[in-house]
Amino acid sequence: MPSPPIAARDRLIVALDAPDIGVAENWVATLGGSVTFYKIGMELIYGGGGLGLAERLIGSGKKVFIDLKLHDIPHTVERATQRIAAMGAQFLTVHAYPQTMRAAVAGAKGSRLKLLGVSVLTSSDDADLAEAGYGLGVRDLVERRARQAAAAGMDGLVSSAAEARAVRAISPPGFLLVTPGIRPAGGDAGDQKRIATPASAIRDGASYLVVGRPITEAARPAAAAEAIVAEIESAL
Ligand code: C5P
Repeated sequence: MPSPPIAARDRLIVALDAPDIGVAENWVATLGGSVTFYKIGMELIYGGGGLGLAERLIGSGKKVFIDLKLHDIPHTVERATQRIAAMGAQFLTVHAYPQTMRAAVAGAKGSRLKLLGVSVLTSSDDADLAEAGYGLGVRDLVERRARQAAAAGMDGLVSSAAEARAVRAISPPGFLLVTPGIRPAGGDAGDQKRIATPASAIRDGASYLVVGRPITEAARPAAAAEAIVAEIESAL
């Protein structure tokens, strides 16, 4: 059965990259109904309280992306994935190593959790991969891991907008592409090197956009979120 279309608003995932839970809670309160999907990562989780916040958000009807980029022996990955699935989270990241992905798929079985592979970290270039012992460059490794993710039964990949078109071309129908590095036209790039506007990322095949500072540091965060939702809508 084909999956129902995803509404523009539900394609915007706001990254709660806050130093503490209080700041993150304030952002969520300020954003109110303008945002339906939040990403919680290592900083808030290891700082304490990130998983509790995730549970509260899920309880209030929001969707939550747990960005923990799991990678360990299969038994541990499977059990950790089961825990995240039991929380009711919507998305979880794991590194796109075939063994790790297969374990995560086993852990998510029977739940609504969708698994996203992290192909190659965007902080790595060809020289970094060579230094780590890889014989493939970034482009080839991303492509190989995209194919392996689909074969392992993963739901999608995290990819930069620059890779989205190439990954979309080799992905099975319905494969999710979740794209960070988004900057509304004229916005400040911050430390992001490869950026795309919301509309161009959607046109290049992104299913969901992860946006942090352009919303959380905006003078009017809810208005910034609404503008991005409108831009997504215009590109669908
Ligand atoms: O503030 P900004 O919009 O740059 O935040 C982007 C979010 O996406 C951050 O949480 C960052 O960790 C995440 N991310 C990224 N690039 C990747 C993977 C994740 O910027 N390749």
